[in-house]
Amino acid sequence: MDVYGLIGNPVGHSLSPPMHEAAYEELGMNARYVTFEPEPEAIESVITGAQALGIQGLNVTIPFKQDVLEQVTCDPTAERIGAVNTIDFSTDPPTGYNTDITGVIRTFKHHDITLEDRTAVIIGAGGAARAVAFALADAGAEFHIVNRTESKAESLAAELEGATAGGLSELPSVLPDADILINATSVGMEEDQSPVSAELLHADLTVFDAVYRPLQTKLLRDAQAVGAETIDGAWMLLYQGVAAFEIWTDKEAPVSTMNQELRNRLE
Ligand code: ATR
Repeated sequence: MDVYGLIGNPVGHSLSPPMHEAAYEELGMNARYVTFEPEPEAIESVITGAQALGIQGLNVTIPFKQDVLEQVTCDPTAERIGAVNTIDFSTDPPTGYNTDITGVIRTFKHHDITLEDRTAVIIGAGGAARAVAFALADAGAEFHIVNRTESKAESLAAELEGATAGGLSELPSVLPDADILINATSVGMEEDQSPVSAELLHADLTVFDAVYRPLQTKLLRDAQAVGAETIDGAWMLLYQGVAAFEIWTDKEAPVSTMNQELRNRLE
């Protein structure tokens, strides 16, 4: 039996096990996907132990995405962003990838949205925003990063081609000319709130919300009300998993099965 899994803390509400196991079932694979919550100080032995046990692949989430860097050889994308969310144990040392970035790119591709030469606004400057910003930079978009803490937006933009930065107060001046708006903050997750005033949204925008609990955030509802195209956060979750599955198995992932499984478990 092949074993895959997720290390993070906490991982109790992760949707990766059902999403990956739906793929194994669909393809008739004898495989399992399990979650682990190691203590932070044990991370080094977790990776060597996983390799010794013959675990095929691990996803990595908060707080370990940087901690595992020393024990893997990073592919160029993971190296540049300085964070690993997928480890492939078929090499020695294991290889670290960042499929959060691939997940963003494939999300836009799935919706036939070109990023090259488009103008985007990213709200947020934490871990999720970082993956979005690296994806947009790789795809050749021009983008403005705005964040509640402006200095964090500035340091992220300074790492990337095509990026500028500012505070949330700039939204009224940058949104009218934007093609794409991405919420990469946690606003909308706990309460029915949006990081953007509804009157700033317009029909020429594509609005992507990285929040997936709930699926229909206030931002997405406001965007739909003005006729903007919307993309919910389950797409990014889906495609980071699809990319990890394909790295580990060399098989084409059953995307629609994985998507259905995720959506059955989200509201
Ligand atoms: P993640 O890994 O999910 O991106 P994170 O690294 O903690 O989580 O980042 C959370 C992001 O949401 C940050 O950009 C944060 O803004 P600050 O850098 O100013 O903290 C943003 N955020 C969280 N709560 C917010 C709020 N109420 N209003 C605006 N931005 C908020």
